[in-house]
Amino acid sequence: MEQTAIFSDKGYDEFGKQFLDRGIKRIIVVCGSSFKKLSVGKYITDFFAANNIEIVFFSDYQPNPDYESVVKGVDVFRKNECDSILAVGGGSAMDVAKCIKLYATMPLGSDYINQKIEPNNIPFFAIPTTAGTGSEATRFAVIYYKGAKQSIADYSCIPQVILFDPSVLETLPDYQRKVTMLDAFCHAVESFWSVNSTDESKAYSKDAIRLILNNMGSYLKNEYDGNRNMLMAANIAGKAINITQTTAGHAMCYKLTSLYGIAHGHAAALCVSELWPYMIENTEKCIDSRGGKYLDSVFEEIAEAMGEKSPMDAAAKFKNIVESLGLKAPKIKSEGDFDVLKKSVNPTRLKNNPVFLDEDTIDMLYHKILK
Ligand SMILES: [Fe+2]
Repeated sequence: MEQTAIFSDKGYDEFGKQFLDRGIKRIIVVCGSSFKKLSVGKYITDFFAANNIEIVFFSDYQPNPDYESVVKGVDVFRKNECDSILAVGGGSAMDVAKCIKLYATMPLGSDYINQKIEPNNIPFFAIPTTAGTGSEATRFAVIYYKGAKQSIADYSCIPQVILFDPSVLETLPDYQRKVTMLDAFCHAVESFWSVNSTDESKAYSKDAIRLILNNMGSYLKNEYDGNRNMLMAANIAGKAINITQTTAGHAMCYKLTSLYGIAHGHAAALCVSELWPYMIENTEKCIDSRGGKYLDSVFEEIAEAMGEKSPMDAAAKFKNIVESLGLKAPKIKSEGDFDVLKKSVNPTRLKNNPVFLDEDTIDMLYHKILK
């Protein structure tokens, strides 16, 4: 699907024009409370008012949104007869907006999650406000249904128009700034070694890794160029996982987030830090049909993209970055945690991982992560 990407470097008018071109009359804006403080938020509010486009705000959802809040959003969309959707936010706003888009045309009041998805043409716009998830580039949405994580996937939930506005990152809290960047880094690396990788996805991964490393300093100092390039890096890493999906690092990180309340990118980075060297040393357990030698060459390529001499140096560099950002492992509450953690890992996602991981290995890795 064609996606229009617009940069705010010359202001927001080109973005505004996209709504007029599509004849938008009433739009649901899925966003957090910070929307009105953003300069693009003020622009949109004024621009829509001047052009008789009615806004229906929807903010009634939590981080890691659940199915019930999505249903509320669908009800708001339908009741107000909205004709389009704008998501402004990080992963959660994007996930909610994607599900509203997919569910809005399903039979009213049905159990949307069990219905077959029929693609629809509801115009869908997005403004990512973190440089991390890359969700604006993927066909996936994650929501929680009866307490369990559900991945919903359809190409028609990829936004048609995206605005990249570096100024939205200026007020990002420090912890969010670090962990969202690491989420993007994990996307790029996991996609690189995924069994589903293609030449195209690997080119995206390589670009994203280089952009992240070259701009990390400036981004962490909250400079305009660093913010702009990190938004791009996260988007490119999103394009990579849109092709490959993520692997064991992500499969292992979800329960860390829910058990200990650490951010998704923080948890993913802790998992990837331990998974990476283990995989380099165990390529004989390769389950990628391209073989162990191929996998060795992938680890070499990742090292090269990171400007490192060997795969182990690259893995060590990643771990150093995580440590230098002060992102520590959470404290375990009881030994029973390890059982909960190892049982939480989604076996389907492990099939994307190029090195076979049995339960004992996963248990060993969790012990290293939480040591
Ligand atoms: Fe992620």
